[in-house]
Amino acid sequence: MTRSVLAALVIACVLFGGSPVAQSPPAPGDPLPGLTPVEFELFSIGLDDFLEVEDAEEGLGPAYNGTSCGGCHNVPAVGGISPVAELRAGMVDAFGNYSDFDPDAGSLFQLFSIPTHGCQVVIPGEANVIARRVPIPVFGGGLVEAIPDDSLLALADPLDLDRDGVSGRAAVIEDVATGNLRVGRFGWKSQQATLLAFGADAYLNEMGITSDLFPNEQSFGIDPELMRLCDPLPDPEDKEEPATGRRGIDNFESFMTFLAPIGRGAIDDEVRAGELVFGTVGCATCHVPSLQTGPSTNPLFDRKTVSLYSDLLLHDVGTGDGIAQAAAAPNEVRTPALWGLRFRRPLLHDGSAATPTVAIRAHGVEADLARRGFDDLDVASRASLLAFLGSL
Ligand code: HEC
Ligand code: HEC
Repeated sequence: MTRSVLAALVIACVLFGGSPVAQSPPAPGDPLPGLTPVEFELFSIGLDDFLEVEDAEEGLGPAYNGTSCGGCHNVPAVGGISPVAELRAGMVDAFGNYSDFDPDAGSLFQLFSIPTHGCQVVIPGEANVIARRVPIPVFGGGLVEAIPDDSLLALADPLDLDRDGVSGRAAVIEDVATGNLRVGRFGWKSQQATLLAFGADAYLNEMGITSDLFPNEQSFGIDPELMRLCDPLPDPEDKEEPATGRRGIDNFESFMTFLAPIGRGAIDDEVRAGELVFGTVGCATCHVPSLQTGPSTNPLFDRKTVSLYSDLLLHDVGTGDGIAQAAAAPNEVRTPALWGLRFRRPLLHDGSAATPTVAIRAHGVEADLARRGFDDLDVASRASLLAFLGSL
């Protein structure tokens, strides 16, 4: 560093009252700015656990989709996405009613298994619904968790009383950690309300590691005797560290809570014009530009604006994967947040859209009006809308 640059930085510090590092917006994978040293420590421990590759000795399996959280959440930084797609299957009867093969195990069929004793899950021949789902990034998770249930209930309009064609539903679910009714907001089906519950759910379903919240191994159709051979560890496998009293699921929660959202890309006049088009065409009805967190004793989460571009509600936009899960019907999908969109490919829950244009063209039913509005845009307005999406 030259002397003059150093001098300029020192002056900047004096003028702006902080270190130059603290002034720059967080890069993907960074923690929220302003963590206390204790919070930073929790974030770091959580990051280590999120990246830790587990094996059978630590409880992995009998069946699993991945060996670490980070294995599926790493683009463009830890916490993000990956092209990995997981598989769900179920049955729909002659009346169109969906059911899982095993209500306890749900619809997930893990791709891999501990190869020793034949513990591979098998999709039954009667399956007539098959669905793929791609990962959702966890950036900004703590802010999303801090949005009050009441705000989401207030946005919901299940009967479309305002007759705008959009009828979002809040996913009211029972939180597995507390037994309380909460509004789900994480997952393509808004199946969990908290990062603790989602992390524990993922630990079990993606990695086969049981915890206090999900103490039973769930791998469809595996004989219990074989299960014991493939996975002899007693449940729950995710034990408290004696020194700290913390479980793996507590560490995942800390990492995701303190992980910063992806910041915006460059904003120019075209991007600003595109954001207006986004509003007029009706995209912002569901992709609500920002929500507020509630009051919190932690200043990081106290009445913050969360620019996520989602209402976190369930909608039928004609893309549903046919799987009923938690409070979501087979045809419903939660509006994905669009923050960080420029780092995300492929798009849509099943990864079937290569570009934002293809994703938008797939919108129908509740989003039919918005999609038609997009189709009718003149060339310049469409270009600005796409420039806006490219800035997210
Ligand atoms: C095999 C890949 C895979 C692994 C391993 C994995 N995930 Fe995921 N993750 C996904 C997929 C796919 C989704 C979307 C699932 C859905 O909604 O059905 C997801 C969604 C999430 C979400 C929801 C984010 C949101 O805003 O809606 C969280 C939180 C999450 N994962 C945390 C974790 C944690 C913690 C671990 C490790 C214990 C983990 N994941 C391991 C693939 C994976
Ligand atoms: C009725 C609510 C609704 C409206 C209106 C709506 N969307 Fe969506 N949008 C959704 C839902 C739900 C999904 C997820 C669908 C899926 O994955 O199957 C989605 C997905 C997307 C995606 C893919 C995101 C990802 O991470 O995969 C993009 C991009 C998108 N919408 C942009 C738009 C734009 C632009 C408009 C306006 C032309 C619009 N949406 C209007 C609800 C809506």
